[in-house]
Amino acid sequence: MSDAAAGSAQGVGQASTDAQKNVALWTQANAEYTNENAETNWALDEIDWGIWAIPESELNVLGDVSGLEVVELGCGTAYFSAWLAKRGARPVGVDVTPAQLETARRMMATTGIEFPLVEADAAETGLPDESFDLAVSEYGASIWVDPYRWIPEAARLLRPGGRLVFLRNSTLVILCSDDEMPAKEHLVHAQFGMKRFEFPEGGVEFHLGHGEWIDVLRASGFEIERLVEIQAPADAQTHERYAYVTAEWARKWPCEEIWVARKRNAGAGSTEPVQP
Ligand SMILES: C[S@@+](CC[C@H](N)C(=O)[O-])C[C@H]1O[C@@H](n2cnc3c(N)ncnc32)[C@H](O)[C@@H]1O
Repeated sequence: MSDAAAGSAQGVGQASTDAQKNVALWTQANAEYTNENAETNWALDEIDWGIWAIPESELNVLGDVSGLEVVELGCGTAYFSAWLAKRGARPVGVDVTPAQLETARRMMATTGIEFPLVEADAAETGLPDESFDLAVSEYGASIWVDPYRWIPEAARLLRPGGRLVFLRNSTLVILCSDDEMPAKEHLVHAQFGMKRFEFPEGGVEFHLGHGEWIDVLRASGFEIERLVEIQAPADAQTHERYAYVTAEWARKWPCEEIWVARKRNAGAGSTEPVQP
C-alpha cells in the first residue's frame, strides 16, 4: 500500500476519484459476498462489534438508542442500521455504492424493517444540518473517506449534544501491515505523514495517528468520550475472511478501535472549521 501526506482535506477531484475506486471495489464485494451475507447479518438480534463479534452489551458504547434519529455513514448493506431500528432508533443509511444499497432495499422488503437510504458520498450527504442525535460508522466512512472531509460532515449533521460512534482498524495494526497478510509484529510504516492508503486489490482507505484523530474531532466541534481498544477473546480464531491479523496478534494488541465523541453544545468551545 502507498502513503500520501496527512493534515488536510482532499481536493474535490481526488475525493471523487477515490470514491469511484471504492464504488468499484464494493460493487465487486457485493457480488462476491456482502449481498449473500446480508440475510445472516440482518437476522442478528444482538449488536456486535468488529471481526471478533464483541457484543454491544459488553462494550456499551451505544447506550439506549430508542427514539434516536441516527445517520449511518457508509452503511453498506445497512445491517447495522437494521440492528438499531430493531432497538427503536430511526436510522438513515448513506452509502456511495448503488449495489450495496440495492441489497439493503432487498433486505427491507424481506424483513419489513424499513428506513430511508441515501446514495451519496458520506462527506457530502446533502442531508439537513443538525437533524440527527447519533452518527455511526462501522468500517464505512470511518476508513473509506478522508477524515478531514467526513468528520466535519458528521458534525454538521448532528444536533448539539449528539454523539458520533465509529469503528475502524487500529492505527497500530495499520502501522504493522504491509502488502502480505497478516500484520507483522513490528512496525512497517512511518506514522508521521500517513493518511491515504491505496491497495493493489482496489479501494482507498484513510488512517491517521491518534493525535491527528483527536485534532480533527476537536476542531470539528467534538469532545472525545471514549476510545475502546478491542482485544480478541481468549478463544477467538483468526477470521476466515478478515485474515489481515491473527487472533494471536489481536490478543496482544488492539487491531480495532471504537471512538465515541459528543458534539459540543453551541457556545461551549471552538467549532471552527478544520484548517489544512
Ligand atoms: C465494509 S462496508 C461497511 C458498511 C457496513 N457496516 C457493512 O459491513 O455492510 C464499507 C462501505 O463503505 C462504502 N463507502 C466507501 N466509500 C464511501 C464514500 N465515499 N461515501 C459513502 N460510502 C462509502 C462502501 O460503498 C461500502 O458499502
